Amino acid sequence: MKSMTLSTPGGLDQLKLNHSAEPGEPGPGEIRVRIRACSLNFHDYAVVVGAISTEDNRIPMADGAGVVEAIGEGVSEFKIGDPVVSTFFPDWLTGPALIGNFSTTPGDGQDGYAREQVVRPTNWFTHAPKGYTHAEAATLTTAGLTAWRALVVDGGLKAGDTVLTMGTGGVSIFALQFAKMMGARVISTSSSDEKLERLTALGADHTINYKTTPAWGTKVQEITGGKGVDHVIEVGGPSTLPESIDAVRIGGHIALIGVLTGWAGDIPTAKLMAKQVRLQGLIVGSRNHQQEMIRAIEANDMHPILDRSFALEEIADAFRYQESGKHFGKICLAF
Ligand SMILES: NC(=O)c1ccc[n+]([C@@H]2O[C@H](COP(=O)([O-])OP(=O)(O)OC[C@H]3O[C@@H](n4cnc5c(N)ncnc54)[C@H](OP(=O)(O)O)[C@@H]3O)[C@@H](O)[C@H]2O)c1
Repeated sequence: MKSMTLSTPGGLDQLKLNHSAEPGEPGPGEIRVRIRACSLNFHDYAVVVGAISTEDNRIPMADGAGVVEAIGEGVSEFKIGDPVVSTFFPDWLTGPALIGNFSTTPGDGQDGYAREQVVRPTNWFTHAPKGYTHAEAATLTTAGLTAWRALVVDGGLKAGDTVLTMGTGGVSIFALQFAKMMGARVISTSSSDEKLERLTALGADHTINYKTTPAWGTKVQEITGGKGVDHVIEVGGPSTLPESIDAVRIGGHIALIGVLTGWAGDIPTAKLMAKQVRLQGLIVGSRNHQQEMIRAIEANDMHPILDRSFALEEIADAFRYQESGKHFGKICLAF
């Protein structure tokens, strides 16, 4: 079995290919999955470059999709041949958030899916959407579920709401797609006019170049007739949050998701309070949230936007491509 491991302290040149024995037969309550695809996230990037420290020889990648090739005693949820996709928090099955760190997350606190086979308890996977390729399914674990939870679970998104998305990474494009799927209006930003055109083609009602319009929060107010948006998909963090607070409506919702501009910074607290904004931090979602998202995806025949695919051995090149910021949607490994 091929796998990629990361030596400490991390770095793209610290990823190495290994050949090891197959993982063997699954025990009671376990399944063996032939992994066929992974997708790349900013979090996986932070792990492989060593910005998040992990154990020596960690197998990276939180998102894995493939086919069940063996089932252990007592497994009734899956059968051999089922296409499956991994869960971000295998132990968070349902209900409110339980875990505030990445100790149980594959590819960070646990070994992930940059490997051909894995044996895990059934709660580490759900069924993949019908009609999805493995690469499409692999985009759901982190980016898809984060956007879904931000808008639908935490945000209570309704048809007619207005959503602001930032940039053209995995989470933001999923948020655009889910918002349109559910009958919302979308205002999307990007640093690139070419990418703005692609956002329009995907259904964005208005677009703003956040480089040439640094006061994009004011622009959003203009677009919405001075009201502001109902939901902000905040992936930038400290440098973008003040603009998000300008952009959101009184009593609106900011899903605090990302740290693309840094780990900490100043927040205009008085404005946040005066606008009575709900600022909700989140990390991905539960297994049950994933199953609900997949039901909605199947009902709407929604498919993610895939950018490029790389082979397992090309994982460092895949992350270099992500680092370049040229991508639009999800970068995958397919093997
Ligand atoms: N809390 C969670 O559960 C969770 C889950 C997933 C991701 N995240 C976080 O969300 C963020 C995005 O993750 P991702 O995987 O979607 O990233 P990604 O696919 O690597 O997307 C990066 C994109 O973000 C845009 N961007 C960069 N700097 C920006 C800025 N200052 N303002 C607006 N947009 C900017 C760029 O779009 P353009 O090229 O169009 O400008 C860039 O292509 C990361 O911080 C990640 O850690 C959090």
